[in-house]
Amino acid sequence: MNVLLTGGAGYIGSHTAVELLNRGCDIVIADDYSNSSPVAVERIRQITGRDFPAYHADVTDREAVRRIFRENKIDCVIHFAGKKAVGESVKIPLSYYRTNLDAALTVLECMKEASVSRFIFSSGSLNPIPYREDMPRGECSSPYGTTKAMIEKILEDACHADPALSAVLLRYFNPIGAHPSGLIGEDPQGIPNNLLPYIAQVAVGRREKLTVFGGDYPTPDGTCRRDYLHVMDLAAGHHRAACYTMEHPGVTAVNLGTGTPYSVLEVIEAFRKASGREVPYVIGPRRAGDLPEYWADAAKAKELFGWQAQYTLQDMCRDTWAWQSKNPQGYPKA
Ligand code: UFG
Repeated sequence: MNVLLTGGAGYIGSHTAVELLNRGCDIVIADDYSNSSPVAVERIRQITGRDFPAYHADVTDREAVRRIFRENKIDCVIHFAGKKAVGESVKIPLSYYRTNLDAALTVLECMKEASVSRFIFSSGSLNPIPYREDMPRGECSSPYGTTKAMIEKILEDACHADPALSAVLLRYFNPIGAHPSGLIGEDPQGIPNNLLPYIAQVAVGRREKLTVFGGDYPTPDGTCRRDYLHVMDLAAGHHRAACYTMEHPGVTAVNLGTGTPYSVLEVIEAFRKASGREVPYVIGPRRAGDLPEYWADAAKAKELFGWQAQYTLQDMCRDTWAWQSKNPQGYPKA
């Protein structure tokens, strides 16, 4: 199976690339490196000992995407490319709608021209807990979330119109960790928005202390609880989804998660143990828009894909630290 990964140099894309190559798949990467590094592509080759084509391409550029399909026999597309900062999307919504919708539509149209009919989309969801795949999409809290919901709807309509088309909508919440080699990992630009990159930068000495956003939530220790998932488990879920599309036309939504939420304080403690470093923190005010807790019901992933998360929170922290301690400033800048 030859899989095109749009946004394949990014955090989840690069780990999925490693998983696919290790499972014997061929891959092609397309990335514009706007929020990723070409060094990640070299590191994927280093980890797997395998070579593959990598295009420096913006997937809203129709000619660039056409060329990729012309030059490679692609069986399946896993679509990661897109803008993903929730807060930024509230400030510049038009840019988010333009980029994320244009990228998905351009890739889908070029797939049709090239008679490629399998598509995996990494999505999101905002519903009451625990999340199940058959709940209505409802209203999203940010333009970023709305672009995800809109693309899901587009895929449903496209699959309805074309019985040969197969699409899996993968929904997951808090991917963390890194490849155990520490050669690839999450490399946020500027001040990290997300918990684990922030903790890791405090532990490595790049930042003084973490602010815990809220200590008065109705949870066991007062801090928010999330379903953290090791990025290699997430990568394995993408591989299973790609295999699934080979035999199942139509559209289906599938959650990927551990089903077990951990609080911010539990994550800090696990990270301290895994790294042997202190993580100084203060409890600050709540962050606007945060829900007290949520987690995924991942029963469907087990039923359809035989997929279950394998890594523990301790593993996630150990591998985040392997990446951060080997790459304190992230990927080297070109
Ligand atoms: N947190 C802190 N301090 C920080 C950063 C985060 O206390 O400096 C807390 C947050 O308040 C939250 C938890 O850590 O309770 C996790 O926060 P993240 O920002 O890491 O993750 P979120 O759960 O807010 O966001 C995740 C994904 C988003 C996605 C969102 C909704 O990272 O990309 O779920 O599905 F949009």
